[in-house]
Amino acid sequence: MIPRTIERVGGTICFIDQTLLPQRLEIVECTDIERLARAIRRLEVRGAPALGIAGAYGVALAAIQSEEEDLDAFLAEVSAAAASLRGTRPTAVNLGWGIDRVLAAVRGAGSIEAGKEAAVKGADAVAREDEETCRRIGANGAALLPENARVLTHCNAGALACATWGTALGVIRSAVEGGKTVSVTACETRPLLQGARLTAWELAAEKIPVRVITDATAAFLMRRGEIDCVVVGADRITDDAVFNKIGTYMHAVCARHHGIPFYVAAPLSTFDPGRSETDVTIEERGRDEVAAFNGKQTVPDGVGCTNYAFDATPLDLVSGIITEIGVLLPPYDPMPRLRHI
Ligand code: MRU
Repeated sequence: MIPRTIERVGGTICFIDQTLLPQRLEIVECTDIERLARAIRRLEVRGAPALGIAGAYGVALAAIQSEEEDLDAFLAEVSAAAASLRGTRPTAVNLGWGIDRVLAAVRGAGSIEAGKEAAVKGADAVAREDEETCRRIGANGAALLPENARVLTHCNAGALACATWGTALGVIRSAVEGGKTVSVTACETRPLLQGARLTAWELAAEKIPVRVITDATAAFLMRRGEIDCVVVGADRITDDAVFNKIGTYMHAVCARHHGIPFYVAAPLSTFDPGRSETDVTIEERGRDEVAAFNGKQTVPDGVGCTNYAFDATPLDLVSGIITEIGVLLPPYDPMPRLRHI
């Protein structure tokens, strides 16, 4: 089993630096909130549920490190730290969810000492519950996979995107644990290669059969009958769309065309009820991620690049949303008011 993606050891937040995988497995020991914010921006820590845990631990770190002796000043300091973390990545709703949950615990505690204690307890609970949630998502989703399932996934919605176990890959892990044979086709996931680097790494570490394809190969494999279903994670689910890594929408369209089920596996903390596609900010990242490969320039100087990190898949293309409380099936209208704090 691979180490936990992110955890608290005393006053230190320990996380796997995912930018170094698959070449090196390195744990970063982080004791300051600026370092944590940088880790989120650089995708050392990434994936919606892991971002929720990072946000929660970041607020806890700010609380326990505060030297303020006045309650209002203490709350202002922790709130400012929370705001700076919230601004690191805009699309995954879990980041704000984890931050808000711990912030609410601190604000409700009534004293500085109780606030510090509540922050640590609250953040630990976010991390602990994430594992329980992923296990439930896994069990609920495993039932949907046929025997000898050939599953296509995109990006990394695995142990590395959560505390452990994973959402989309949690479904695969649970199916394998339950005795099913599953083989995975991992889309490489341009431009940062979360599928090739991370999904393949964590599945191979557990001897779950996996092959990597270029993103553009997915439709061809569906046409050849080599894919039984698609299972992906999500960064945010509004009343009308699922937001996930750029390229997800393309797989959903192709899956519908070929009559292949397209499932989304996500915790309730990823739901953003009352919002729709146009309300959501899609993160745009730098030109360099697209304009170079392996340290070599691939786009001529002066030519612009568009680098959206996520896309939106309309719910009518989604065959089911696998959550910890069960599988939601279409029609999703009206979307249940699913959100837990
Ligand atoms: O940019 P990333 O690597 O944070 O994007 C992650 C994804 O798109 C995942 O599929 C999503 O967060 C679900 S993780 C369980």
